[in-house]
Amino acid sequence: MSSVPRGWDCDMEYVHYSVMQKEVLSFLNPEDRPALLVDCTLGEGGHSNLFLQKYPNLRVIGLDRDKRIMEKAKNRLAPYGDRFEARNIWFDRFWQEYDGPQVDYVLFDLGISVFHYEESGRGFSFKRNEKLDMRLDMDAALDASQVVNTYDEKSLADIIFNYGEERYSR
Ligand SMILES: C[S@@+](CC[C@H](N)C(=O)[O-])C[C@H]1O[C@@H](n2cnc3c(N)ncnc32)[C@H](O)[C@@H]1O
Repeated sequence: MSSVPRGWDCDMEYVHYSVMQKEVLSFLNPEDRPALLVDCTLGEGGHSNLFLQKYPNLRVIGLDRDKRIMEKAKNRLAPYGDRFEARNIWFDRFWQEYDGPQVDYVLFDLGISVFHYEESGRGFSFKRNEKLDMRLDMDAALDASQVVNTYDEKSLADIIFNYGEERYSR
């Protein structure tokens, strides 16, 4: 993940640079066959845009649990009409429920986006003085500040150990 600050002197808009573009486009290459790709981590739609541009017979379903970033992707990919469909859902949930047409390609670009660090206001970065929130799903009941301020020491250490794979969590 890397950020490309666009317009330093004017609107300070950050855009997410999609990683490994050449590799992703060549490994998941439908050539000119009709095919369906599920982009499990749509973000601002960078990878999906590259795929839709390069492969005219490809359809894309894009998943993101964050409604705000998904709106950016929907606007960006609107010119592709019904070749693109956005779904605001956790990707594991999507696959549990999926009963649609055969999927030919699946892309995961795990993590969060430059949007989250620079624009979301949700405390993902130490650079800014923001409330510690860190949710992707803004309808979720718990935010990070509640967790760090109300969980006991053992529970916090378990979280850091299990999810952060930090063996010195205690
Ligand atoms: C690294 S960004 C993807 C950037 C995208 N590939 C692009 O080129 O613009 C990862 C995105 O996945 C979303 N995300 C992370 N975990 C998720 C999950 N479990 N289910 C759905 N979306 C998720 C985040 O909200 C974020 O927008």
